[in-house]
Amino acid sequence: MTHLPLASRADQLVGSMIDSSTSLLAAQSHDIVRFAMGSPAAEAIPTRVLAAIGAETIGEASPDAFDYAATEGDMRLRQALLAELEGTSDATTLDRLTITSGGMQGLDLACKLFVDPGDLVVVESPTYTNGSATALSYQADLLEVPVDDDGMDVEALERLVRESGRTPRVVYTVPTFQNPSGATLSLERRERLLELIRHWGSVLLDDDPYGMLRFAGQDVPTLHELAAGDPLVFSVRTFSKIVAPGLRVGWVDTDPSLQPLLINAKQAMDTCTNLPAQRLLTGFLAGGHLDDHLATQRGEYRRRKEAMQDVLAELFDGQARWTDPEGGFFLWLTFDAGVDTEELFPVALEEGVAFIPGNAFSPGRRFPDALRLCFASTRPDRTREGLLRLRRAVDRVGG
Ligand SMILES: Cc1ncc(COP(=O)(O)O)c(C=O)c1O
Repeated sequence: MTHLPLASRADQLVGSMIDSSTSLLAAQSHDIVRFAMGSPAAEAIPTRVLAAIGAETIGEASPDAFDYAATEGDMRLRQALLAELEGTSDATTLDRLTITSGGMQGLDLACKLFVDPGDLVVVESPTYTNGSATALSYQADLLEVPVDDDGMDVEALERLVRESGRTPRVVYTVPTFQNPSGATLSLERRERLLELIRHWGSVLLDDDPYGMLRFAGQDVPTLHELAAGDPLVFSVRTFSKIVAPGLRVGWVDTDPSLQPLLINAKQAMDTCTNLPAQRLLTGFLAGGHLDDHLATQRGEYRRRKEAMQDVLAELFDGQARWTDPEGGFFLWLTFDAGVDTEELFPVALEEGVAFIPGNAFSPGRRFPDALRLCFASTRPDRTREGLLRLRRAVDRVGG
């Protein structure tokens, strides 16, 4: 490559195997069952409703819908969102809400405001690849803390931080139906985590895009609710998983004192979030569509998860274990012995099935024998076909 005077941080731009898989899959001409991306089912995107709202609200009658918007977000959307969240575990006030370009921009803003080069940032292990990549892009040192069925192991967190001899600047968690494991942080652990970050004076980066997609088990209060306005808690949310990822609209819920900084940081990134997309979402929320939409999605995702687990039990029993999420999009499968999922990936792609190998979710590459499956975007009959193909691929690599 031509020698260019790259900044030192360019070395830490690690990219995302998850996002790259979108281009990789688009380039394939054969039939592939796609368990790779974390997208809502295509048929779960409310395209008709959004198109009708678009025709009404961003058509010729409202040319201002194509103008620049307020950096903190279009007031109509902020008001509609506030009303939507009232009475939920994410209830909030207007001065805490800033609209972002997806959840990713919320993660970027948090790291931009809080992470200096060399700072210690705690991530779950496994963690959401783009979250750890964002911290790395601000030149953080990462500390991986194991996840089990109850989410991040906060006893291990305390011990590993003590052993590191350092204080984390940020603790990053995906507390509910975690990406990639599907695990949910228990109430006891949520409370202990808040005690720990308060003791350390660390920022808790609470990235909870799947919380509204519970289809089984008991609700657990969000970290946002439990924190009761503690300025150390920075909550990132998105419409990507509950309405449509292509809109690229999310929000952050932070201490009001941070909003001027968020606005300044955002003005140096993208000026404002896409206004037509904000108008679509305003219409969707104000028209009362979200609750029904979520109810349908929850039922369908439950059906899809159960279908995936049934076929896994039939084809991989005794050879692999998998998690049992109570919501969200993902299952985490671990082979008991000797299947390298990065080697498996190209063979599986040839067979016509795609997943994300476990190592993509760990900066230290701790999960060579695991993989993430998205159950949400595939119909049960296709899921069966996809897992039959996965079975053939595993047989071919000698698992
Ligand atoms: C845990 C987590 N955080 C953030 C995001 C990014 O959300 P968005 O697509 O809105 O940027 C995702 C998407 O996969 C995610 O799973």
